[in-house]
Amino acid sequence: MLNILYPAARSILFRIDAEKAHHLSMAGLRATEKLGLLGAMASSPKPKPVNLCGLTFPNPVGLAAGLDKEANTIDALGTLGFGHVEVGTLTPQPQDGNDSPRLFRLPEHQALINRMGFNNPGIDQGLANVRSSTSFKGIIGINIGKNKVTPNEEANSDYAITFEKAYPWADYITANFSSPNTPGLRDLQSKEAAGRLLEALKNLQTKLHSKTGRYVPFALKVAPDLDETQISDLSRVFRNGGLDFLIATNTTLDRDTVKGHKNANETGGLSGAPLTQPSTEVIGQFHSHLGNDVPIIGAGGIFTTEDALAKRVAGAKLVQLYTGFVYRGPQLIHDIIQAW
Ligand SMILES: Cc1cc2nc3c(=O)[nH]c(=O)nc-3n(C[C@H](O)[C@H](O)[C@H](O)COP(=O)(O)O)c2cc1C
Repeated sequence: MLNILYPAARSILFRIDAEKAHHLSMAGLRATEKLGLLGAMASSPKPKPVNLCGLTFPNPVGLAAGLDKEANTIDALGTLGFGHVEVGTLTPQPQDGNDSPRLFRLPEHQALINRMGFNNPGIDQGLANVRSSTSFKGIIGINIGKNKVTPNEEANSDYAITFEKAYPWADYITANFSSPNTPGLRDLQSKEAAGRLLEALKNLQTKLHSKTGRYVPFALKVAPDLDETQISDLSRVFRNGGLDFLIATNTTLDRDTVKGHKNANETGGLSGAPLTQPSTEVIGQFHSHLGNDVPIIGAGGIFTTEDALAKRVAGAKLVQLYTGFVYRGPQLIHDIIQAW
């Protein structure tokens, strides 16, 4: 039923400001979930389990970080069919993010540009929200980042704070060091800085594992805007540092394919169809270095089952959706699961 309702809802939502439409849809999802209506309208996908890093994902399709920044819509998103939901990015302190407007549609290109800037309620409130999820049976990933005011030299302490707090509540943790909307964050992708971050989180994970008896795997999330040398250097760091898995990719700074669009020059990260091919190539390059030692979750411009399967061929073990889900709705989740 949702596949019939979604195109109508989308045509109304696309007439209002993008961020307002986002909040309205999330509130609608939560309300219909609470009333039991969402479950009645959505069909649950057949299980197609995927094992990764000791976790059993009920199906290969997850929600990418940034849609449920507050971690308060997990149950409804699970009802729509996502096998995993990655919440956040959550930072140590709450922060407002950049000034509005900060989210732009480019419908002619099936794309979005955002410069949200990690608007989020902070790790403590985010985790309280995670704890109040009651019905979701899938995998919860908690995506962590640093506050804007924290200088890069102290970034690892922000990641350590959020990592330690998230550990008891997460099935996996993602350290996001590739958002283009926190000034300087992507500098942490240099091989030296990435090595230091990975080492700090690995030590913390070892400590928390022996203290709690529970091993929570963690991922780093990379940008698509990396050249061959950076990919090869980072792969060595990831493999030697024992990274559990990789999420590729975040949004791109490249604007070549959307030149001339009225929103093309908005500052921020571009997502959606213009990212389909570049992110698949980056996944393929990382996979050629990492093989099965560091599995990859693929994200970036997945709009069709073919896009998802191309990411699998390139080496992704699972996929995540954001912009394709906004444009195509929940039917896309089901189509990919069926085709996988
Ligand atoms: C509005 C918006 C906000 C986002 N916020 C985050 C975020 O907070 N943390 C993060 O790791 N990725 C964030 N992302 C990136 C997505 O998780 C995803 O990696 C990227 O958009 C590529 O996938 P897509 O083309 O399917 O959207 C955001 C993307 C969008 C469009």
